[in-house]
Amino acid sequence: MVSSSPLLTLPATIAWKEDALYLLDQTRLPHESVVERVRTVEEVWRGIHELRVRGAPAIGVAGAYGLCVAMQPARDGSREAFYAALEQHAAYLDTARPTAVNLSWALRRMTQAAQRSDAVDAEALYQVMVAEASKIHQEDQAICKGIGVHGLPLITPGSGVLTHCNAGALATTGLGTATAPLYLAHQNGVAFRVFADETRPLLQGARLTAFELQQAGLDVTLITDGMAASMMAQGLVDVVIVGTDRVAANGDFANKIGTLGVAVAARYFNLPFYVACPSSTLDLQTARGADIVIEERSDGEVTHLGGRSIAPPDIKVRNPAFDVTPNELVTGFITERGIVRAPFGKNLAALFVSDGGAL
Ligand code: MRU
Repeated sequence: MVSSSPLLTLPATIAWKEDALYLLDQTRLPHESVVERVRTVEEVWRGIHELRVRGAPAIGVAGAYGLCVAMQPARDGSREAFYAALEQHAAYLDTARPTAVNLSWALRRMTQAAQRSDAVDAEALYQVMVAEASKIHQEDQAICKGIGVHGLPLITPGSGVLTHCNAGALATTGLGTATAPLYLAHQNGVAFRVFADETRPLLQGARLTAFELQQAGLDVTLITDGMAASMMAQGLVDVVIVGTDRVAANGDFANKIGTLGVAVAARYFNLPFYVACPSSTLDLQTARGADIVIEERSDGEVTHLGGRSIAPPDIKVRNPAFDVTPNELVTGFITERGIVRAPFGKNLAALFVSDGGAL
């Protein structure tokens, strides 16, 4: 199972083949590339919770196919039993991770597709769900491409681009969000360099972003999170592009912990700060960033590195997985329909509300 794009040499993050769901285990990258079949709803939940599949768009696609996996035992039952199980499994999968809105968005879309269908029996309802999951999957690839096309003019010859965490191909089923303009610029022969923050505590920047960009032949330099401001001060960064897990109606957004610090530094150094935002990550029901639920993860992710303790025993720890950046620090949201600039409340809604959202 290979990636959707000739630009990428990685295995596909998510694959659905003959009623089976396969996930690339991202916790083992960059050293091992292992694709595993996920057979039960509990395995799907764990795959998302334990970050074997991660990144907002990929979590959405995995949730959609994961709900199909969950519904397989209900295929030969009654329609009523199918709907009852569907509600239950969707609610369960939705608890796997709270911050990326793509998960609840995809699960809601899947549930509604089944509820609106006039399929005659449970097997036909199951087929409706597989078709909807496949649609979400294909849309994700098209959305990444759209973000790439609209973000491309931001990548100018000789420029330096800084990114945080992994909003790359590995976080999606396509070219990534923040990385899509980078891949297209590289394909067009634009010479530029990328600085990838390592992104403590789980090192998605080092393990995933540095890896996938290097594999694709881009000029990428890995830095620790604490070095980002210094790179900016040295004039090495011209533009920052990050991804997001949820954009509130007013343009405040959640992304991997550390994004807020990068945005503050970018403002200090007067650098443009862009957020790659697929329509599936826009949450117009959440008014402002303060309303976004931030996932708190286990202490061990902070006190240990590569399985080894790096802190005194019994130290007090905080481990919020995401932070919220206020909209006033955002230059623009790169969406599949174009770049949205302030006032964000008005302009984000105008771009997506009229026809109900995603492509
Ligand atoms: O905890 P993760 O690895 O799922 O966090 C991922 C991020 O914060 C990404 O930047 C975000 O999901 C956007 S992915 C296109």
